[in-house]
Amino acid sequence: MKALVLAGGAGSRLRPITHTSAKQLVPVANKPVLFYGLEAIRDAGVREVGIVVGDTAAEIEQAVGDGSAFGLQVTYLPQDAPRGLAHAVLIAREYLGDDDFVMYLGDNFVVGGIDGLVDRFRAERPQAQIMLTRVSDPSAFGVAELDSEGRVVGLEEKPEHPKSDLALVGVYLFSSAVHEAVARLKPSWRGELEITDAIQWLLDHGHRVESTVISGYWKDTGNVTDMLEVNRLVLESVEPSVRGEVDAASELIGRVVVEAGATVTGSRIVGPVIVGAGSRVRDSYLGPFTSIDRDCAVVDSEIEYSIVLRGASIVGVGRIECSLIGREAEVTPAPRVPKAHRLVLGDHSKVQIGT
Ligand code: DAU
Repeated sequence: MKALVLAGGAGSRLRPITHTSAKQLVPVANKPVLFYGLEAIRDAGVREVGIVVGDTAAEIEQAVGDGSAFGLQVTYLPQDAPRGLAHAVLIAREYLGDDDFVMYLGDNFVVGGIDGLVDRFRAERPQAQIMLTRVSDPSAFGVAELDSEGRVVGLEEKPEHPKSDLALVGVYLFSSAVHEAVARLKPSWRGELEITDAIQWLLDHGHRVESTVISGYWKDTGNVTDMLEVNRLVLESVEPSVRGEVDAASELIGRVVVEAGATVTGSRIVGPVIVGAGSRVRDSYLGPFTSIDRDCAVVDSEIEYSIVLRGASIVGVGRIECSLIGREAEVTPAPRVPKAHRLVLGDHSKVQIGT
């Protein structure tokens, strides 16, 4: 079995914070979301991975390299434009040969990995196997309709009037039967070759399509509440480790990771918390479910249930909660007079000021 990971598409726009132009590299607990997918593929026993790349190919290739860091053999498959998920399968035809494959959308996150799904596929050998999850906004996804026995009978891509709240998760398993389906597709109303239509074609032609309903699914929609929540879920299972320096005046409680080159002085950290390489935490409190990325500074401050991205500094500002602080952002106290908030906010920023 091979894997086809989709990390193409145009750079992301309209996020509250542009972490990176490749949405597959948005960090969850200090690690790009794409890496969790690659690890899930490896843990399911797959070694050969084709990664479809587009405009952001350089960033993706720089982050993933030849895959050896993940125990994978990676081949990059350039796609000239984001012409659809099924188009990605089309251009990967030669790479995939007639092997079964798991197709994994690089911006999707499945808590707990995909071992179970892959094992089931190997045991039952349907032509396609999909994962579904209940969502509150099905019209933003591919949506499945099931019959009374739970069998998939129809699929629609981003329907205006969804027939259920069961969205297609971006992890699919296929046998080589999908190639005939893909070859016959016409572009959809949004001008893309839709994998949803390819699966519908398989259904219409009597092929077996199995489904599993899962929970613990996330993709970045730019929604900060969701992002804090997935960060929490991942932090809940980190293994505590201290590879940086923690002085005797500091106290670490629970699952705390202090990465190499990070320093913690005169501070109290109540996990789960991760402090990234090269970051400095001084005279501060870090509370549960906080990820501090690389090269940040937290000084004379308190921060809890928050994400702080690379190179940001938070100095002398009292308490921060439920926040996402972007790369290289600086949070400091205002001068005493005039008594006013002083803000330099990037596009699409959101600020809530305690009064
Ligand atoms: O995330 C789950 C959803 O993903 C499913 O519910 C939908 O049925 C499926 O069509 C897909 O919808 P999106 O419109 O959200 O997909 P998006 O365009 O964001 O692309 C998903 C990933 O695939 C993303 O990492 C970019 C990459 N991609 C996308 C296209 C269209 C490619 O590599 N090449 C492409 O041509």
